[in-house]
Amino acid sequence: MSPPSKENGTDRPTMAVVGMGYVGLPLAEAFADAGFKVIGLDVSVDKCKQINSGRSVTPDVSDESVQRLVDTGLLEATTDFAKVSEVELISICVPTPLSKSKDPDISYIVRACESLLPHVRKGTVVVLESTTYPGTTRDVILERFEWAGFELGKDIHLAFSPERVDPGNETWNIKNTPKVVGGLTPKCGELARDYYARALDKVVLVSSAEAAEMVKLLENTFRAINIGMVNELAMVCEKLGLSSWEIIDAAATKPFGFLPFRPGPGLGGHCIPIDPLYLSWKMRTMDYKVRFIELADEVNSFMPHYVVGRVQDLLNTQEKALKGSRILILGMAYKADVDDVRESPALDLYEILSEKGARIAYHDPHVPSFRFGAEVIQGVAFEVAVADTYDLILVATGHKAVDYDAFADLGLLLLDTRNQLGHRKDEHVHLL
Ligand SMILES: NC(=O)c1ccc[n+]([C@@H]2O[C@H](COP(=O)([O-])OP(=O)(O)OC[C@H]3O[C@@H](n4cnc5c(N)ncnc54)[C@H](O)[C@@H]3O)[C@@H](O)[C@H]2O)c1
Repeated sequence: MSPPSKENGTDRPTMAVVGMGYVGLPLAEAFADAGFKVIGLDVSVDKCKQINSGRSVTPDVSDESVQRLVDTGLLEATTDFAKVSEVELISICVPTPLSKSKDPDISYIVRACESLLPHVRKGTVVVLESTTYPGTTRDVILERFEWAGFELGKDIHLAFSPERVDPGNETWNIKNTPKVVGGLTPKCGELARDYYARALDKVVLVSSAEAAEMVKLLENTFRAINIGMVNELAMVCEKLGLSSWEIIDAAATKPFGFLPFRPGPGLGGHCIPIDPLYLSWKMRTMDYKVRFIELADEVNSFMPHYVVGRVQDLLNTQEKALKGSRILILGMAYKADVDDVRESPALDLYEILSEKGARIAYHDPHVPSFRFGAEVIQGVAFEVAVADTYDLILVATGHKAVDYDAFADLGLLLLDTRNQLGHRKDEHVHLL
């Protein structure tokens, strides 16, 4: 293991986390809690100010924790990349979205790397955590370090470690979820593992950075494909007059060989809808089509359209057209109990329903407003939402903080895509 830095006047190990978002801040917190002096680097001046004034930028880290770490000098956020010359470990947690054509956009990794390069001192361990296609650590990061004159395994040690954080999960957090690490050389992997093992409960070393990159894609491809399968099952069950929820719950009583996944209005969040497409893009460059991923993407992308079709059918039963109907969407976040609307299927529902002329209000205690093109759409408070009248209520997210029964009690047509009201036998309540 490389010796702890003495440059901060102590034996404290030092690290920089690049990107202070949903992933970066919890990682910074875990290392600071383990006694590292952590520098959080971000391009956002506002985020840095917020952190330095003791306020968190993600619901998974409390304000109190940020305040304590800032007060004790264990955490400092900055836009000044020159600060990386003070650290021995760097973890990169910047976004990896898709471009408009659904191709990987690794420009954030490239920019982060270029900002780091002039300041990284020799001997530093650099770990990429952003989800990406196999080969990125070697082809994108190593290549740039080599251009700058660094020699792998001597001047720089590079590894990949997939981030498995699950925002809103109260059981599994960054510290107690096993962390996979793989290096570009066996030594790089061991160095990264040794650092991570100081802050996290369990580190699993794999044979290469490419293997570690692939682990993350397997995990999220597994989820995307299984969700695609149960989404198809939901459509099949509806045609057969069966409840997919009942079928899945009953199948889940089998103690082996079955893992339950639930249908929904589509995939959301920064990971599941995007990560498998990183793998299918990479394989297309090698002239190989990953059919499972493309089929799951097709089924999952169709779900918001399917849900809107169900809304239209339900309105028809009351001789109403979708155009001009008042619809209340319950939940705008992409999943339960989070404030994140990235790739949220509720946004697709909002868009498709508005295009078809529906008049929409929404309620989400975690998302007071969201951006829709140039507009900022404001949600309505519970008291207002429950006091109003609609042609249909559409449950798009199942938050613990929402009293769904209060909406079902209104007696209005209701379509529930998250099985929040499966216990209700009312004729006006319909499940996906
Ligand atoms: N959010 C999740 O649940 C989750 C889970 C597992 C993996 N991941 C992966 O982790 C990575 C980060 O995701 P996130 O959700 O934390 O994103 P985020 O948008 O919440 O945070 C990213 C941060 O990086 C900053 N940033 C952008 N470019 C930068 C640069 N050049 N230098 C420094 N900072 C820069 C942004 O300002 C932002 O604060 C992605 O690859 C994502 O796929 C996310």
